[in-house]
Amino acid sequence: MIYETKILKPNKEGINEAAKLLKSGEVVAIPTETVYGLAADALNEEAVVKIFKAKGRPQDNPLIVHIADFEKIYNYAQEVPKVALKLAERFWPGPLTMVLPKKDIVPKITSGGLETIGIRLPSNEVARKIIRLSGTALAAPSANLSGSPSPTCAAHVFDDMNGRIPAIVDGGSCDVGVESTVVSFEGNAIRLLRPGFISIEDLKEVSEEVIADDGILHKVDPGKKVLSPGMKYKHYSPKARVIIVEGSLESFISYVSKHNSEKTYSMIFDSDKNLFPFKNLTYGDTSLSQAHEVFDKLREFDKLGAEIVFVRCPQKEGVGLAVYNRLLRAAGFEVITL
Ligand code: TXA
Ligand code: MG
Repeated sequence: MIYETKILKPNKEGINEAAKLLKSGEVVAIPTETVYGLAADALNEEAVVKIFKAKGRPQDNPLIVHIADFEKIYNYAQEVPKVALKLAERFWPGPLTMVLPKKDIVPKITSGGLETIGIRLPSNEVARKIIRLSGTALAAPSANLSGSPSPTCAAHVFDDMNGRIPAIVDGGSCDVGVESTVVSFEGNAIRLLRPGFISIEDLKEVSEEVIADDGILHKVDPGKKVLSPGMKYKHYSPKARVIIVEGSLESFISYVSKHNSEKTYSMIFDSDKNLFPFKNLTYGDTSLSQAHEVFDKLREFDKLGAEIVFVRCPQKEGVGLAVYNRLLRAAGFEVITL
């Protein structure tokens, strides 16, 4: 089906219309504090199938279930361990997804065939109003075409989803810019499956035992069973070949000068700008601003027709680990250390 994709305002009228579409089993893109989500009724199998179709997403990759009020966790999760309760108390509403055993009410299509669900209570007010009004929980992956950079504003969603969904609620630019932190539980230990705004350091405030999963920084063997299926897919890639280059600004400049061509661009820090003599886009200086800009800039390189993008390697601490993790996937793990 081809839709005429409407852009809805995040006001009462727009939110009502979005909720009405969701109740009728349609897919609507909604803003969250992390990235835009492609939402549908998490309990309605036909609606959820439409998400997978609109995104072109493999059906074994589970969707996150979004709720607007904490108590709803008990409608969908069979068990909520103590450490998960502590995390929810500390970081919800906010950019944290917890993987928990699911109740039967959540269809397998939503959980990608798994017996668990990823569940999250977003802090974005528009998202929460839409969830409440729709009267259900919303399954929502990032609102990009599978494999493309996640969308951090309505225009990004429109570029990917025009004609594929009936509506996009335009809530402006997302605060965080990278997707939520995803964790699962092993006794009292927290396993980090995907880094995000809530950092390892933050998680350690709740449990001393935080295990960073290998898949965060390493390519997973395609045949291997992984704890978070999203890890095995190529991700966040613009059309250009992205290469992360680790080293000082001087060595970066010298590397680019040797490998420069007409369609080569670099993604550098704001503070490099005055000293950098080749075509570039900047993505901030701090980890927070890099998180906010990384996907937007990856998309912009496509518009510029870039064929190769050399990226100045970000800091890997705090939110920086999330930025590095997304760039690693955009680069297909291609890192050059100078
Ligand atoms: O910030 C976000 O999390 C955004 C917004 C829209 O909420 N959503 C998002 O969804 O990033 P998505 O589908 O693009 O990424 C969800 C990730 C995937 O890597 C998936 O494999 C993992 O979470 N995930 C979801 N449910 C899971 C489960 N039951 N077990 C393990 N991993 C799960
Ligand atoms: Mg995604």
